[in-house]
Amino acid sequence: MNKLKDFFQTELPKINFVLKKELQVLNPMVREVGEHVLLAGGKRLRPVLTILTSRCLGKTKEDIYPLACSLEFLHSATLIHDDILDNADLRRGRECTHLVFGIKRAVLAGDALLALANMLVAKYDIPAMNYCVAEAILKTVTGEVEEIDNLRNPFMDEAVYLEIIRGKTAFLIQAACACGAMVSGVSRDVLKRVSSFGMNLGVAFQLVDDALDYAVDAELLGKPHGNDIREGKITLPLILFLKSLSKQERQVLLEKISANSLDEKQTQDIISSIQKAGLDQKVRNEAQVYLKEAMDSLLTFPVSRERDLLEEMLEMVKTRNF
Ligand code: IPE
Ligand code: IPE
Ligand code: MG
Ligand code: MG
Repeated sequence: MNKLKDFFQTELPKINFVLKKELQVLNPMVREVGEHVLLAGGKRLRPVLTILTSRCLGKTKEDIYPLACSLEFLHSATLIHDDILDNADLRRGRECTHLVFGIKRAVLAGDALLALANMLVAKYDIPAMNYCVAEAILKTVTGEVEEIDNLRNPFMDEAVYLEIIRGKTAFLIQAACACGAMVSGVSRDVLKRVSSFGMNLGVAFQLVDDALDYAVDAELLGKPHGNDIREGKITLPLILFLKSLSKQERQVLLEKISANSLDEKQTQDIISSIQKAGLDQKVRNEAQVYLKEAMDSLLTFPVSRERDLLEEMLEMVKTRNF
């Protein structure tokens, strides 16, 4: 994984430079908010995916960085809005923007970042790329809506869960890969395979994220731990746990989840039972199925240094602890 680490180290300063520069067009009221979340770090997975797919699939004469950064702007906008929706308090190791700047400025900053990202993409003058990004935003919103709609839903199952995570996370990761491919002028057939790579990577990424919520402490993650169950989100580790119970036990627990009446001790007990039963690992194994699909698509890309790095990216998603 060292080569991928080196790649991140080389690319991150360039990405961060362009992020900072492009933020300057915003009104200070929202720019400050954007800087708070964007300059706090973050893995920069999406812009790196855009750069890697573009270089792997044919390179482009265009400057790739504004495009790559637009994916990070979109992602950061969804984080700002998501933290309001989820009532979160910690993001990227910092207090969430709505707590620092107030909800009004946070909402507007998210909107401003969405608009800024769309402007940056439009400058490439490839209408299909704008369509792709707009579709990804719409799918992300739809995923968030469906998640809210299913909070504390006792009938939640794996199919609904997968639909939600495809929407709220995987579509944007897919778009990051597809934009890299489109700016390099690939054929429809190649674009389809790149999109499939991105979609499967995105689903695996969120599966691992949901496993981490039950397995890792807040300091490593830069966001709170055990929060999903507290927020009423029935993610795969909890779905598997519910399945492992007797019918009666399941009934009792589902009633409590539905009524939002679990106390802190009961919540902690569920979290440790999930850890003890190794259900976070089981969810990682499920992620492996999607990573394998992504790998199958990846192997159809041209052999290149970038393809090797994308392969390392699959390994990173599989084993990540942060
Ligand atoms: C967080 O995404 C939101 C999810 C889709 C799980 P990341 O884990 O990529 O967040 P940063 O950008 O590194 O902070
Ligand atoms: C991630 O949602 C997807 C978006 C931000 C749209 P989550 O709510 O599951 O992610 P975290 O845990 O806040 O990063
Ligand atoms: Mg959240
Ligand atoms: Mg959320």
